[in-house]
Amino acid sequence: MPRLSVWMIRAALIYLGTGFLFGGLMLFNKGIPFEPSLWRLLPVHIDLLLIGWLLQLAMGVAYWVAPRFSDRPRYGRTRLAMAAFGLLNVGVWLSAGGEWAGERSVVLIGWVSITSAGVCFVLHLLPRIKPLSPGYDPT
Ligand code: HEM
Repeated sequence: MPRLSVWMIRAALIYLGTGFLFGGLMLFNKGIPFEPSLWRLLPVHIDLLLIGWLLQLAMGVAYWVAPRFSDRPRYGRTRLAMAAFGLLNVGVWLSAGGEWAGERSVVLIGWVSITSAGVCFVLHLLPRIKPLSPGYDPT
C-alpha cells in the first residue's frame, strides 16, 4: 500500500473512533439526558464521519487501487493527492471546530478547504482512470 494511502486510512480510522465516540455520547444523552449542550456535537459528528471517515477512506483506497502508469511517476501527480490529504484534514478540523464554537466564518473556510481537497483529488485521479494498456493480459 502506498504511504499516502496509509496516512489517509489511518487518519480516517481516527475520525471513525472520534465520530463514534461523539455519536455514542449523544445517544446516551438522548436516553438518559445529562448534558443538553452535547447536542452541539451533532454537526461535528456528521463532519467527522461523512468527510473525515467515509470520504477520506474512499480517497485512501482509490489512491491505492487506481491503475498506475507504466512509466515513472507511477502514481501520477502525487503532489495533488498530498495537497488533497492536507486540505481535507485542515478542512474537517476547521469545519468541525467552527460548528462547535458557533463560528460560521470558520465553518465556511473549512468547507472551502474540503472542496479544494475534492478538486485536487479528482485532478490527481482522472488521468489514472484509464483502460488497461493494449496487450496487457490480467489473467
Ligand atoms: C459511519 C457511521 C455514521 C455516520 C456516517 C453517521 C452520520 C450521521 C448523520 C448524517 C446524522 C444526522 C441525521 C439527521 O439529522 O437526520 C447522525 C445523527 C446521529 N448519530 Fe450518527 N453516524 C454514524 C454512526 C453513528 C454511531 C455509531 C452512533 C452511536 C454510537 C451515532 C449516533 C448518532 C446520534 C445519536 C445522532 C442524532 C440522532 C437524532 O437526531 O436524534 N452515529 N449521524
